[in-house]
Amino acid sequence: MTEPLVLGIESTCDETGVALVRGRELLADVTATSMDEYARFGGIIPEIASRAHTEAFVPTLNAALERAGVGLADVDAIAVAAGPGLIGSLTVGTAAAKALALATGKPLYGVNHIIGHVAVDELVDGPFPEHFVALVVSGGHSSLLDVTDIATGVTELGSTLDDAAGEAFDKVGRLLGLPYPGGPHIDRLSQQGDPAAIHFPRGLTSARDRLRHPYDFSFSGLKTAVARHVEALQDAGAAIPTADIAASFSEAVNDVLTRKALDAAVSRGADTLVIGGGFSANSRLRALAQERAAEYGITVRIPPIRYCTDNGAMIAALGSALVRAGRPESGLDFANVSGMDLSTTYVAPAAAA
Ligand code: KG4
Ligand code: ZN
Repeated sequence: MTEPLVLGIESTCDETGVALVRGRELLADVTATSMDEYARFGGIIPEIASRAHTEAFVPTLNAALERAGVGLADVDAIAVAAGPGLIGSLTVGTAAAKALALATGKPLYGVNHIIGHVAVDELVDGPFPEHFVALVVSGGHSSLLDVTDIATGVTELGSTLDDAAGEAFDKVGRLLGLPYPGGPHIDRLSQQGDPAAIHFPRGLTSARDRLRHPYDFSFSGLKTAVARHVEALQDAGAAIPTADIAASFSEAVNDVLTRKALDAAVSRGADTLVIGGGFSANSRLRALAQERAAEYGITVRIPPIRYCTDNGAMIAALGSALVRAGRPESGLDFANVSGMDLSTTYVAPAAAA
């Protein structure tokens, strides 16, 4: 028997993504983005994003179907990101997915976008091991997960108490006068700077904090420290060494992320660490995670950059895992969950919840 063909739909933020996955094989992945419209605003405007999803959805769907060489009638199940995300953006994707499910009679799964960032790795690096730890780092989340089954066995170990890593990068980018979103710009700039030039604080890493918050993160104190450092230089009329500041700030974030992720893997007895989410495109995170994991004999799996930022493949991958696990469909009457918790892989129907 051939593996199920799953259509995945992503519209939580500014990317309209549609993908087709058969089992763990990616057949097509097409993304449209409204990000280019936000540089002048310094942040995403939800109304513009929702309107862009409405405009882009059908062309993106048609392009994905054509690229995969399949029709809607061939699809065995539809998966759509039900949260977390911007409510207007989510509504366009879930309403479109429900209409498709109703018209085709196919089962519909409303899945967790953040867990999709982990699930997508199976399409690239093959089946997951029986147990692993995942670090999910995006614009809105920085979390550690214990995973025994990507469809049914995800437990949140900890998360950021304030800013997410991507959010902190975007805010520091603004402070250094870089275009929005600052993350990729700081990444590039930091490659020309000295990571040891300034010692910025590492949040929640003191002995006391590590007892109380072993797997939680905090980046807002660091962001404030960078702001104070820049202000002090400005007050003194000194030049701002932006590359050194970017590199030192990036080092502080990535030092904490990798240290806590590896602590989690070691203490949970997992020999694999999977890293996902938009921030996992960061070059220093990728290098430092590999370097430190090697010291512990832990395997690191990070998808290529195009699967780190939001896309339809991650949603189809999680949908495919749910179908393979025999989970019942969400049905057509679920609501978007803008703040979906990370131990919930999808919106289970009321009877099965
Ligand atoms: O997962 P994602 O595409 O969207 C959310 O679900 O939030 O993550 C977007 C975040 C933004 O904060 C962006 O600045 C950050 O990921 N990002 C990066 C890099 N590429 C994207 N941050 C640091 N270095 C990068 N290379
Ligand atoms: Zn995301």
